[in-house]
Amino acid sequence: MTERGQLWHGRFEGGPSEALQALNDSLPFDRRMFREDIAGSRAHVTMLAAVGLLTDLERDEILAALDQVETAIADGSFEFAVSDEDIHTAVERGVTEIAPAGAKMHTGRSRNDQVATDLRLWTRSAVAEIRDLVVRLQRTLLAKAEAAGDAYLPGYTHLQQAQPVALAHHLLAHGWALQRDVERLDDAAVRVDVSALGAGALAGSSLPLDPEMTAAELGFAKVFDNSLDAVSDRDFVAEVLFALSLLGVHISRMGEELILWASTEFGFVELDDAFSTGSSMMPQKKNPDIAELARGKAGRLIGNLTGLLATMKGLPLTYNKDMQEDKEPLFDAIDTVRLTLIALDGMIESTTFRTDAMAAQASSPYAAATDLAEWLVAGGMPFRSAHAVVGEQVRNALAGEGSLPELVAAHPDLGAEAAALLEPGVSVTRRTTRGGGSPAAVVAQIERFKAALDG
Ligand code: ARG
Repeated sequence: MTERGQLWHGRFEGGPSEALQALNDSLPFDRRMFREDIAGSRAHVTMLAAVGLLTDLERDEILAALDQVETAIADGSFEFAVSDEDIHTAVERGVTEIAPAGAKMHTGRSRNDQVATDLRLWTRSAVAEIRDLVVRLQRTLLAKAEAAGDAYLPGYTHLQQAQPVALAHHLLAHGWALQRDVERLDDAAVRVDVSALGAGALAGSSLPLDPEMTAAELGFAKVFDNSLDAVSDRDFVAEVLFALSLLGVHISRMGEELILWASTEFGFVELDDAFSTGSSMMPQKKNPDIAELARGKAGRLIGNLTGLLATMKGLPLTYNKDMQEDKEPLFDAIDTVRLTLIALDGMIESTTFRTDAMAAQASSPYAAATDLAEWLVAGGMPFRSAHAVVGEQVRNALAGEGSLPELVAAHPDLGAEAAALLEPGVSVTRRTTRGGGSPAAVVAQIERFKAALDG
């Protein structure tokens, strides 16, 4: 018998092969759940004592040993053994070496309900942390929107200039997408917040356990209703991975715009040196690497989600070792999103908006063509006819018959009042309806956005 297999050595004669160990061990990545594992064990042994399965003395011995193990793992002095398959076995072994009563701490528990509970605890705080970072980015966008005042830029469809909009309007568009991400994270958190402890390996226990007590002890909002479901369910991981993937897609789209806007051709933003990189060969270069990585990281987030779904899709109830593959994609997604949000926040916070370049691009009289048509509609003309009248002037202007303002001023249905709409800076003020792009409409939108952030 090797050191290995301490936990389930009863029915085995030989030790595990090296290949089994290398494939089977999850300690290298699940050790980051040590605090959650220890918290779960504290709750479990407290409950065991409350229902008479441990004496108070045994409980106190184990709790003290758990404190010691936690401190040792945190400060790096804990000695992991080759026999430690995962963080659960490592903690139990460490406790038992300190306190003989540790041999009782796994009473009525399996690593199946233990790992599900640990991962739920870990996910609960990770989601809360990411939520805070998303809100921070929203507040940065809000501050930039408020600072933007009446600045405006072309709005685009098909990446072709469409209608001018306030810069604040554009920035808040990303802010609202992030608001849905916050709501999705909050919603996923509801289903994360369920204790699996007490489900045992799959079927509950013949011992008088109190799953409600451990759930309350760990601050879970709910306790499992079905032991089989409790140990097989990884929906909460999939949901969080989806919320992070869609958040990643939003971050990616912001990144893509910053890349475009930082190009010489657009020139809409000047990136801060601290958030840009240079080229090893071309001395003139200033590159938007953060924005590109924000765009690129979305790929791995989507990969983490689809990987987990593929892992889960064929599994019969209940726990299957395949499910050990749940942790790395989740940890990676959280780490990726955390880093990206922090970097992108700093990048946006430190970016200078070239509002003069934006206004210059947004001041083409063609961008006000829809305003002309709507001006005709306000005077009673059917929209289709108005569209045709203005379209004809645009065609004539493009054919070189005169500038658009000249042709409009000379047209019997249009004239000087209509031509005034083509003056730079006028068009953007026209769309004042709720949620519209004029600076005046954005004032109300900013208030609604603030309310959403505080809500
Ligand atoms: N390390 C495993 C995991 O991460 C938990 C252990 C459950 N293993 C078992 N043989 N029942 O999923």
